[in-house]
Amino acid sequence: MATAPVVTVDGPGGAGKGTIARAVARRLGWHFLDSGAIYRLLALASLRSRTAADDLAALDAQARALDIAFPTHGANADEVMLDGDTVTAAIREEACGERASVLAALPIVRAALLERQRAFRGPPGLVADGRDMGTVVFPDAEVKVFLTASVEERARRRHKQLMEQGVSANLAGLLEELRARDERDMNRPVAPLKPAEDAITIDSTGMAIDAVINRVLALVHERCGTTGAE
Ligand code: C5P
Repeated sequence: MATAPVVTVDGPGGAGKGTIARAVARRLGWHFLDSGAIYRLLALASLRSRTAADDLAALDAQARALDIAFPTHGANADEVMLDGDTVTAAIREEACGERASVLAALPIVRAALLERQRAFRGPPGLVADGRDMGTVVFPDAEVKVFLTASVEERARRRHKQLMEQGVSANLAGLLEELRARDERDMNRPVAPLKPAEDAITIDSTGMAIDAVINRVLALVHERCGTTGAE
């Protein structure tokens, strides 16, 4: 059975995965999956409903029923919606990222979200951004990228991104939070953050965004023979 091609972009928080994966998807005219946003949506939903982080039955039900919408056009284009509410800025708050990383370590949560993520695959192709896209969710992806950068650079980038979104943040605090999140994401027993064996690692420290995008597009061209829609 022919399936749509997939490009996976995995790596630690703040490495620029979102920016790169989104731009590559746009250039190719492919679908885009921000899997971190799904974990963040569940985090927000559970915080709003005051569901405890150890209430596994409630979290499983909440993950399965989660109303996930990433509209690409119309009035809410590029917004993240939860139960009809725009939560684009709310899910970027560090409290949400923190809780997302706690919930993401629970096997029951990952299992509940697995098929929902796979459902994003469709023609002409998909660019998926996360931690386990190349290792667990799309192990047969045509192109697997592991995007990384030094933790200091990642904290600086996240700080700049939050300021631009009007979310207040403190650089030293972000550095500590990123370190703690990396530690948890890399050391969890289920779907730990690590490069897939067949992934190509790109260290984006000091690299311009366009250079990273072009490198990924060149890989797609090499493996899938497409240059994209634009
Ligand atoms: O990428 P982002 O920072 O939005 O992800 C938030 C958290 O969700 C991560 O720290 C990670 O724990 C979790 N996550 C995951 N698997 C993914 C994407 C995100 O465990 N595929």
